[in-house]
Amino acid sequence: MAVRQILVIGDERLRQKAKRITRFDESLKTLIDDMLETMHEANGLGLAATQVGVPLRVAVIETPEERDENGTITRPKKTYILCNPEIIKRSGEEIMEEGCLSVPGYAGRVLRATDVLVKARNAQGREVRYRGSGLLAQAFQHELDHLDGVLYVDHIQNPEDLWQLSREEEPEEEFEEEQEM
Ligand code: NI
Repeated sequence: MAVRQILVIGDERLRQKAKRITRFDESLKTLIDDMLETMHEANGLGLAATQVGVPLRVAVIETPEERDENGTITRPKKTYILCNPEIIKRSGEEIMEEGCLSVPGYAGRVLRATDVLVKARNAQGREVRYRGSGLLAQAFQHELDHLDGVLYVDHIQNPEDLWQLSREEEPEEEFEEEQEM
């Protein structure tokens, strides 16, 4: 496994339309392992292959575990491996705050569907379906956009919906919770 370099906005490779995966082989598994390691190292919630300069339709998402007030885990962390993903159903609309590992130092407000149903293949090529709402639905939409060369900032029309983060001014705990895709 290896941590790969995450491309940042301005790099034309982020604008490529990624190609469908046709072989679910060892090199795909290596790519997925590297993407997971890269995402963990960057403290991210999701990562698309496009962001590490590989124009293939694969993305990874990991939702954090949730705990109740006693510290008991109410929902374990969950990892999603999405090869050739497609959103086959979407409903609702919500304005959500969003950040991206490829747009460091910024956050914005984007209109997203509240619930989505995603059809994809896992690393072995088996068909999987995931339903997501809220943060997970947002992550699905954000990562699938990357595979088409779209960044969340492309959805923003008003300049006041995009702002610079001043991390020095934020308390440490808040910084820990901030996750980008
Ligand atoms: Ni992103």
